[in-house]
Amino acid sequence: MDRFVVRAGAELDGVVTVQGAKNSALKLMAATLLAEGEYTLRNVPRIADVEIMAELLRSMGVDVQWADGGELVLRRPADCIPEAPYELVERMRASIVVLGPLLARFGRARVALPGGDDFGARPIDMHLAGLAQMGAEFDFAHGVIDARCSRLLGTRIVLEFPSVGATENILMGAVLAKGTTVIDNAAREPEIADLAAFLNRMGALVSGAGTSTITVEGMPELAAVEHTVIPDRVEAATYLAAVGLAGGEITITGARADHMDMIIHKLGEMGLRISSTADGLWACRTRRLRAADVSTLPYPGVATDYKPLLVALLAISDGVGIVTENLYGANRYTYVAELQRMGADITVADHHAVVRGSERLSGAPVKAHDIRAGAALVVAGLAAEGETVVSEGHHIDRGYEDFAGKLRGLGADVTRG
Ligand code: EPU
Repeated sequence: MDRFVVRAGAELDGVVTVQGAKNSALKLMAATLLAEGEYTLRNVPRIADVEIMAELLRSMGVDVQWADGGELVLRRPADCIPEAPYELVERMRASIVVLGPLLARFGRARVALPGGDDFGARPIDMHLAGLAQMGAEFDFAHGVIDARCSRLLGTRIVLEFPSVGATENILMGAVLAKGTTVIDNAAREPEIADLAAFLNRMGALVSGAGTSTITVEGMPELAAVEHTVIPDRVEAATYLAAVGLAGGEITITGARADHMDMIIHKLGEMGLRISSTADGLWACRTRRLRAADVSTLPYPGVATDYKPLLVALLAISDGVGIVTENLYGANRYTYVAELQRMGADITVADHHAVVRGSERLSGAPVKAHDIRAGAALVVAGLAAEGETVVSEGHHIDRGYEDFAGKLRGLGADVTRG
């Protein structure tokens, strides 16, 4: 059985601790390909995507183990097999971030081309164009990118769009390149700044990460280090949405308010009370939320990953909210049909969704299509009469550690079966 069963009940009450950021941990794991030695990563979430990245690194020769204290220990040998097979890339698109480090360190990489997913075709043209500007050459045959270079050369790269993955691949290529690389229109996500902090600990010279211009002075070699992963802002936002849907008062320990400015502002506009505590966030819903309009944008804008949560909240808010998706194609609205099964009044046209709030949703069997959509359906179930059964729960396990258990810790009636 692969489902989450949710029954609306009491308001939420309690404390939940946020996990390490999935979208940082995966990239730090890939970055270990840059230098031989033993790495210790703390605060790595125990989620399925981390296991896939571990499997991918093991297939290349890296020893990856969970230590007794919960840390992830990676031992990167002197030589690796610079190949990412389709069976693993197909299970997780983020596998493409091994391309930059493999090229930088070994001068070659064979990486299966990621296919489409539930968000539609997601090209990697900017990753390849940036690395090509640094001297890499690519051949494509049988669904595999065959990449080669002698030492990558630093240069100025202007990204057409601040892509997270392209910024990371180019950054990881640049740290071992000859000379200076400048990445302009770089993605500014906190996970990029975390990756740069990790690389700097390894001996790299990266400045400007977290801004639109990243400058990297290439080094001849780097060294293995220890690092603590930043907290997962999307997981933290999921618990904010949960209290917005169920009502009550919660504390989210470990959340970084400074990584969540826009979502905190938007939820505040809707009437959720949120404040910073010494080590996290406190949130409380005392009355029905008000609708608001929202557009997704690259960081520091409202992240596309928050969108299903916002649509679920708008479905029970007072008034009409218009949601605009600016990052992915219109098919990142697949979960809307599921929310409609729960009685939500939502009209989708192209990149926009018009959400008319109802007093309450109605529990129904629904299906998780991806990580964030699945999580949003589970928390929507907290505001739905009767029972909501979210099938294909494995999508949620890709990004959330013990999601049902953590929600139960806040008093929600959620089981995983
Ligand atoms: N794009 C291109 N060409 C490229 C690269 C990207 O056209 O070469 C397009 C994509 O197709 C997409 C947009 O640019 O429409 C944004 O893509 P980006 O490269 O910024 O995203 P990503 O690196 O593939 C990461 C997160 C996603 C998150 C996005 C946007 C990871 C592993 N994934 O993806 O997170 O939605 O940034 O913030 O870091 C999730 O965690 O559930 C998730 C999907």
